Amino acid sequence: MNVLLLLVLCTLAMGCGATSPPQPAARPSSLLSLDCNSSYVLDIANDILQDINRDRKDGYVLGLNRVSDAREHRQEAGLGSLFYFTLDVLETGCHVLSRTSWKNCEVRIFHESVYGQCKAIFYINKEKRIFYLPAYNCTLRPVSQSAIIMTCPDCPSTSPYDLSNPRFMETATESLAKYNSESPSKQYSLVKITKTSSQWVFGPAYFVEYLIKESPCVKSEGSSCALESPGSVPVGICHGSLGEPQGNQGKIISVTCSFFNSQAPTPRGENATVNQRPANPSKTEELQQQNTAPTNSPTKAVPKGSVQYLPDWDKKREGSQEKDPIETFPVQLDLTTNPQGEPLDVSFLFQEPMEEKVVVLPFPSKEQRSAECPGPAQKGYPFILPS
Ligand SMILES: *[C@@H]1O[C@H](CO)[C@@H](O)[C@H](O)[C@H]1NC(C)=O
Ligand SMILES: *[C@@H]1O[C@H](CO)[C@@H](O)[C@H](O)[C@H]1NC(C)=O
Ligand SMILES: *[C@@H]1O[C@H](CO)[C@@H](O)[C@H](O)[C@H]1NC(C)=O
Repeated sequence: MNVLLLLVLCTLAMGCGATSPPQPAARPSSLLSLDCNSSYVLDIANDILQDINRDRKDGYVLGLNRVSDAREHRQEAGLGSLFYFTLDVLETGCHVLSRTSWKNCEVRIFHESVYGQCKAIFYINKEKRIFYLPAYNCTLRPVSQSAIIMTCPDCPSTSPYDLSNPRFMETATESLAKYNSESPSKQYSLVKITKTSSQWVFGPAYFVEYLIKESPCVKSEGSSCALESPGSVPVGICHGSLGEPQGNQGKIISVTCSFFNSQAPTPRGENATVNQRPANPSKTEELQQQNTAPTNSPTKAVPKGSVQYLPDWDKKREGSQEKDPIETFPVQLDLTTNPQGEPLDVSFLFQEPMEEKVVVLPFPSKEQRSAECPGPAQKGYPFILPS
C-alpha cells in the first residue's frame, strides 16, 4: 500500500517537473481508454471501416468482427477528438469496387476466411461536423490450412489466391467465354483473378472470381477481334466454375456476373439505396450525412493507408521448430514517434480559412487498453481472431 502510494506520488512529481513549459493536450493522461462494446465506440468503428473500404481500389470489403482497442484523445476546446482504433476484421464476399456497405455483405465461410487487423487514426469534430480518416493500415491473412484440417477435415483447404495452378486461369477464360457467348452483344474481357478455390465434387472442380472490363469488340466480330480496349476499368465481377465429374466426358462450366454501380464513388456521398443505413441512424451517421461539403472538396482529405496480405500462417512456420499458437498481425501505424505528440494540420477540413492543428500521438500499445476490450466478436472461431 505504502509503496504504491509512493509510486503514485513519484509519478505525479515527475509529471509536474517535466511540464514546466505547459504543453496543452499532449499529456498522455488525456488519452482515454474506451469501452469496446459501447455504442459510442461501435458507431465510430463503423464509420472508420466505411472510410477504409471506400478508400480501397483493390480486394474485398472488410467487415467488423470486433473492436480490439479504442482510445480517444480529446483536443483543445472546439477542436474535437482524435481516435486510435484497432479493429479485428473479416473479408466479405463483396468486392470493394461494388461500393457496398460492409453491413450488407456476408463474411466468407470459415474455411475460406481471410481475417486480420486494421489500425486507424480518425478525427471527429462534431461541432463542425467533420469526420476524417488521416491514416489507416491493415494486415490480412487466410485462415491457416492446419486450422481448417483440424476443425473441418472435409473442407477444401486451398489458397484463396493460387495462380500457380493453370486450371484456375482456364476456369476464368472458359467461363467468361461462356458468359460472352450468352451475352446479347456486349463482350467482356478478363482484368484479373481475385479469388480461387477448388474442391472434389464427383471429380475435380475449380472456382474463381475475377474482374471484367468491357471489350471494344461486339459479338458479330467473333474471335477475329483483336482490338485492345483503351481503359481497363473493371465494370463487374464474375464467379466461374469448371468441373470434371468422373466417368463423364467433358467439362461442366458455370458462370454468373454482377456489375458495379457505374456512378463514380465520392468520398462521402454515398448512394443511400446501396448503403442501407439502420432505421435509427446514430448521431454520428446523421451528422456525417449532412456533412458532405467540407470533406468532399479538398484533395488533401484523401486518407493514407494500405492493406497488406500475409501468407497462410502455416507457410511461415514451415521448416522452423517454432510452435507459436499466437498469430501476430504486424500492423504499423505511426504518424509520429515523439511521445509528446506532433501537430497534425487539419485546417483544410474547416470551411473558414483558419489554422487548426490537433496533436497526434504515437499509436498507443494495447497494454493499457480498457478492461472492456476487446469487445465481443461477431464470429468467435478461435482461428480467425488476432491475439
Ligand atoms: C455488449 O453489448 C450488448 C448490447 O449492449 C450486450 O447485449 C452484450 O451482453 C455485451 N457483451 C459483452 C461481452 O459485454
Ligand atoms: C442509387 O442507385 C440506384 C441504382 O442502384 C439508382 O437508381 C439511384 O438513382 C441512385 N440514387 C442516387 C441518389 O444516386
Ligand atoms: C503502413 O504500413 C506500411 C507497411 O505495410 C508502412 O510502410 C507505413 O509506414 C505504415 N504507415 C504508417 C502511417 O505507419
